[in-house]
Amino acid sequence: MEVCVIGTGYVGLVTGVCLAEVGHHVICADKDESKIKMLLEGKCPIYEPGLEDFISKNIKSGHLFFTTDVAGAIKSQDIIFICVGTPPLPTGKPDLTSLDDVARLIGKSLNGYKIIVNKSTVPIGTAKRVKKIINENIADNNGKHEIDIVSNPEFLKEGEAVHDAFSPERVVIGSESQKAIACMKQLYEPIISQDFEYAKKNNTDKKIPIIITDSTSSELIKYASNAFLATKISFINEVANICERVGANIRDVTFGMGLDSRIGNKFMRAGIGWGGSCFPKDVRALAFTAEEYGTPANILNAVIQVNNYQRFRVVQKAMDMLGIIEDKIIAVLGIAFKPNTDDTREAPSVTVINKFIELGAEVRAFDPIVKKCPPDVDKKVIIAESVYHAASNADLLVLVTDWDEFKNMDFNEIKKIMSKPNVIDGRNILDRGKLAGMGFNYKGIGI
Ligand code: UGA
Repeated sequence: MEVCVIGTGYVGLVTGVCLAEVGHHVICADKDESKIKMLLEGKCPIYEPGLEDFISKNIKSGHLFFTTDVAGAIKSQDIIFICVGTPPLPTGKPDLTSLDDVARLIGKSLNGYKIIVNKSTVPIGTAKRVKKIINENIADNNGKHEIDIVSNPEFLKEGEAVHDAFSPERVVIGSESQKAIACMKQLYEPIISQDFEYAKKNNTDKKIPIIITDSTSSELIKYASNAFLATKISFINEVANICERVGANIRDVTFGMGLDSRIGNKFMRAGIGWGGSCFPKDVRALAFTAEEYGTPANILNAVIQVNNYQRFRVVQKAMDMLGIIEDKIIAVLGIAFKPNTDDTREAPSVTVINKFIELGAEVRAFDPIVKKCPPDVDKKVIIAESVYHAASNADLLVLVTDWDEFKNMDFNEIKKIMSKPNVIDGRNILDRGKLAGMGFNYKGIGI
């Protein structure tokens, strides 16, 4: 099928690559010239394991194209995916400027029946909004063109995006048009039946559930899913804080809870809290929607509050260990909001680094992939070249991101080079018994 994907961020790029890989003809369009230039050379502008190989493979096979001519791509294709960002405004309300711009451009470029698919996470009611804007912008001399709108949220996780897109846990299609639903089913057929090279190689012979619903329910499935996952983490973090007070161990508590299949053991890792480009934005947006529609968002607001507190808890632990923070050297391990990504948006590292610097510490941050100071981090931070560069002469080492390589650090060496052997494990991935045995003053979260 002939597909256009507008926006080559995480969602757009992965969607485009995935649809090309299963055999469709995909044009990914973005007004950002430097990004498109990179992509045309087969280079991936984001760090996402496996993605670059699929980009070059599909360019070579002729299934994937990139262009800055967004209007041209709209005109030549039948199914148009909107994958532009909807960043939060200070109120929590998503900023729909890019989305509205794209809807206007689609209206102006229409030259026949098209299915318009909202793939990015968009506020409840956006399907109707997009339809209205497109219709208002259809140029008079184009005549009246039929369009159908579909909500088709994406559920991929950064760092595991290729697998999540190729083998999703469900495909959700929300539309008021039976014709559009039938086309979308056809588009997703290879994925639903897992009948393509990647699926066969990875033995993913599972059948993917497809959910057909109205556009509003589809939009809410996305928000409610992310908000529920964030709730699970905030809940377990609150329990972890209780563990610390009563002398329980969160690892055993979550294990015991998770064996109840109604609870499950996923997304139950206590730590410094959730971050990234999705959970913070989406929980705030859903709370905003609830309030906008006059229904309380008590749980959602508490979920955000607990998460903010969790970052502060780590700073508080540092104060307990060091007394005053001023003039201390603190090594922060991990800048990305989670492993296997270079994304630092709303990362817990940003909050703690800035707070330590504000309190007068010298902060040396190391990340296996992030090598530049993120835009919202105080420029006084020193980006270290290695764990050992960060830890040398440090009074405290704070592990913020659960990168695998931090599990296998040489703690004999670290003990030798640190000024004081203080460790805060913000992800509970280190061996407390081993570190304590080596003479480290170790604090985890809820253990
Ligand atoms: C999240 C969802 O998991 C995806 O399903 C969704 O498609 C995506 O948002 C989106 O809306 O685009 P992502 O933000 O990539 O994906 O990252 P997650 O793996 O969900 O992690 C989010 C945060 O929760 C990270 O900061 C992670 O460290 C934290 N986390 C996760 C915990 O603190 N504990 C856990 O047990 C799990």
